[in-house]
Amino acid sequence: MCVAVLSTPSVLAMSSVVNPFMASSLLNVPTANVTILALVLATLVYVLPFFVRKNISNAEGHSIPPGPLFRYAFLRKYPERALYKWAKQYGPLFSIFMGDQLFVVISDPKVAKDLLVTNGAIFSSRKRYFMKNQTILRGRAITASEYDDTWRQHRKIAMQLLTPKAISGYAHVLDYEADILIRSLLQESKNGNLPINPSHYAGRYALNNMLTISFGTRTDSTTDPLVERALAMAHEFMDLTGPWSNPVDFIEPLQWIHTSMRSRGRKLHDDLIEVYGAMIVRVKARLDGGEDVPDCLAKTLIETQEEEKLDWEDLCMLAAVFTLGGVHSVRVSERLLCWEVEIDGETQTSGIIQWFLALIPSHPEIQARAHEELDRVIGRGRWPTADDEQNLPYLRAVIKEVQRVHAPFWMATPHFSSEDFVYHGQYIPKGTVMVLNCYSLHHNEERYPDSFAFNPDRYLGDELSCAESAKLSNVMERDHFTFGAGRRICPGLHVAERELFLAISRLMWSFTMHELPGQPICLDEYEGLSGRTPLPYNVRLVPRHDNVISLAEESKEITLEF
Ligand code: HEM
Repeated sequence: MCVAVLSTPSVLAMSSVVNPFMASSLLNVPTANVTILALVLATLVYVLPFFVRKNISNAEGHSIPPGPLFRYAFLRKYPERALYKWAKQYGPLFSIFMGDQLFVVISDPKVAKDLLVTNGAIFSSRKRYFMKNQTILRGRAITASEYDDTWRQHRKIAMQLLTPKAISGYAHVLDYEADILIRSLLQESKNGNLPINPSHYAGRYALNNMLTISFGTRTDSTTDPLVERALAMAHEFMDLTGPWSNPVDFIEPLQWIHTSMRSRGRKLHDDLIEVYGAMIVRVKARLDGGEDVPDCLAKTLIETQEEEKLDWEDLCMLAAVFTLGGVHSVRVSERLLCWEVEIDGETQTSGIIQWFLALIPSHPEIQARAHEELDRVIGRGRWPTADDEQNLPYLRAVIKEVQRVHAPFWMATPHFSSEDFVYHGQYIPKGTVMVLNCYSLHHNEERYPDSFAFNPDRYLGDELSCAESAKLSNVMERDHFTFGAGRRICPGLHVAERELFLAISRLMWSFTMHELPGQPICLDEYEGLSGRTPLPYNVRLVPRHDNVISLAEESKEITLEF
């Protein structure tokens, strides 16, 4: 049982103003003024609770963690900065009200482990956000499912294609797309002679990987309309969702009325069904026609649909989340489909590639060390491959450090508590949104001294993959929290790590990266509400030697049967 108590002294003080006439005679002020004052104060007594936090405690008197006095309808611009400040003020576990919804924010690695991992049975559900979970994904797509048997079943199906063993089955695809990434960057930049905005190419790289894993297909040109449509939907998704960004998620009456946000959410749901549904239908037609369709998510879903009791929306949403999970936060210009097409495509994976390309030009000493390592270990006659990873400790350290300083999700995806819990005397009621404050976690000075500096050296000697690191018993040794924590940890992290290594090692092997004179790349601001990517920028990618061009020319675009 929990008890709600008005906690502000001002509210309590106001509630003692009961007899204006007595007050009038005492203070000797005109009765009308006192009446107005009393009315104002009485109104405030009723209205203020909607604006200030309430204290909630359980039967044993344990209160919710401390936090800011006011309630919020949304935290829109760079919410991680507010969380960082509040964590310093209120400590590693603080609470905040968004409308009537209680959020508890975790800003310490040990607390994160205690709550999300050790007590994962209690802290692994998802809030039924109006926009993301109810309107767009309708409780499906793994990420929007509550912690129940449906979530277990759908996650198990997805994992069949995402384990390291499964990835080895399509490793050649990831390898090929990394070649194509370099090839298209060279082509578009006229072999490094023109500056280039890399976002579209990084976006297409991740999109093609996800299309192959999901549907056994790929786009065979940078202007394929599917690139536009998929990236536009991913962008819309990231613009409409976000743990703090929509008042409609926290103020229920807004959900009942017609708003443009609500219409956009519904349209996106329909678009996801239309686009991904059409792709599933095409895979089914090929299977029905007796074709030898490569293993992919759609094929698995079709073949197991009856046995797993999946309905049509399950199929579409599971297929969609692979592309959304791998592809997000995309800004699409209105001038699409002309040759000047300019899609700033970004994905979670490509978001990190973009942050890498944004950061590295201003760190020539880091480029030089990575180039030296690549020349020594690989030489200049071939691309780096996944097998080289363990022999390139400095490059691995660079990739981990990019993920630490520029995690695409500073708040991961919030979890939700399904039972009351008391943690070191602090009460966390059932139905609390649990936020992993990755920005504060990644700037923990004890774990990462001089945490705002970009310093790959801090990861030298760390030979673990992100997945292995997430399982360490000493959480202070975990590399970073970019993929979340606990039972909902990103199931795509093995694929993502492989994609990142292939793309970044080949970019580093191929190019020296430079800012353009007078156009410094902004690293403080960014785009996206839930997933973040740098503001659009141009970079000059200069091939390091002739083999870059000759190797890239060997990689021809292929069209996969669809
Ligand atoms: C660098 C790339 C990626 C990053 C940074 C990333 C990050 C994340 C994070 C932070 C979460 C929330 C974890 C939590 O709740 O604690 C998540 C969940 C998820 N991710 Fe990823 N992800 C990436 C790539 C991918 C890829 C490639 C896929 C699909 C193949 C994917 C599919 C998913 C799914 C389905 C979930 C929901 C899991 C659940 O709720 O059980 N992600 N991801």
